[in-house]
Amino acid sequence: MRDLWHGYAVHETGTRNNPADALSAIEAASDQKTLDEARVAFLGKKGRLTAASAAMKDLPNEEKPAYGQALNVARSAVTTAIDGKLAQLQEQADQKSVEGIDLTLPPRELLEGGLHPLTLIKDRAIQILRRMGFALADGPEIETEYHCFDALNTPDDHPARNEKDTFYFDSGKLLRTHTSSVQIRTMEKATPPVRIIAPGSAYRRDEIDATHLSVFNQLEGLFVAEDVKLGDLKGTLEYFLRALFGDKTEVRFRPHFFPFTEPSFEIDVKLHVKGQAPKWIEVAGCGMVDPAVFTSLTASRGDDLFDPERVTGFAFGMGLDRLAMIQWGIKDIRQLIDNDTRFLKQFS
Ligand code: PHE
Repeated sequence: MRDLWHGYAVHETGTRNNPADALSAIEAASDQKTLDEARVAFLGKKGRLTAASAAMKDLPNEEKPAYGQALNVARSAVTTAIDGKLAQLQEQADQKSVEGIDLTLPPRELLEGGLHPLTLIKDRAIQILRRMGFALADGPEIETEYHCFDALNTPDDHPARNEKDTFYFDSGKLLRTHTSSVQIRTMEKATPPVRIIAPGSAYRRDEIDATHLSVFNQLEGLFVAEDVKLGDLKGTLEYFLRALFGDKTEVRFRPHFFPFTEPSFEIDVKLHVKGQAPKWIEVAGCGMVDPAVFTSLTASRGDDLFDPERVTGFAFGMGLDRLAMIQWGIKDIRQLIDNDTRFLKQFS
């Protein structure tokens, strides 16, 4: 058999070579760059092994199989050597990169985020109400007096409209005192039946204490259609509160007054705290939409889709902060805005 290495060596460089040349060049490579140079020198387009393969075509046919076989053996020896060397170089580089690093040093404490209890209760409330067919609606927090009061049948001399109780801007706009303004915003554009919920912030000049904040969170609900009854309101809210707090939850409807509902109620939930006598906590205001609201809306829309002779409805406004306090037995509402991680950690 013709000497493979002799064959290409003469062809390529005019000197005599043997496979050990390739292997020792690979072995001598001290970094990935020299290794790559060695690879190109032997296996590259103009590499020696490539040239040796090309030389095969000039051989007499009977010599070709043996030559080809030798060529394969040489190629795989070179490839294996390159792969081995590469792994070795990488290993060395890895070792070097951790030199001087103290691997016994304890890691930094992993700070894991979690959702705020208000977000948790809001998401849960939305989930239950959406399952009952309510869609999400939204409205601005900086409101007009019209949407916050007038359209909700609230007379000029109502205490809620007082500067003492409400944050007004010079423009005459105000920070909404309740999410009920979204009822109007929605009905201005919608076609009955309307079945919406609107979670969001509300603002009042309240004295801040364990149960009051000047920025708090409500979840408004409105259902308007033909023939909506008080029983629908009661059933909906009782179902909701039991889905949220458990089947055994006791719920009480207490007659109340709101300018935009008639009749109106406040809803209390019985709170059981270990070692304390159970007590009723107010969680929502609600009632049947006052026909006066529909009458004013009918005038502003200029059609009769919300004619009080045609539709009835119920509305409710829940205090999300209160719901959270009941859910987790939180005694002071201020904990919800203190951002004390010792408190917040319990919810993540
Ligand atoms: N908007 C009322 C409040 O903030 C609650 C309410 C909403 C009452 C809807 C009746 C109907 O106190």
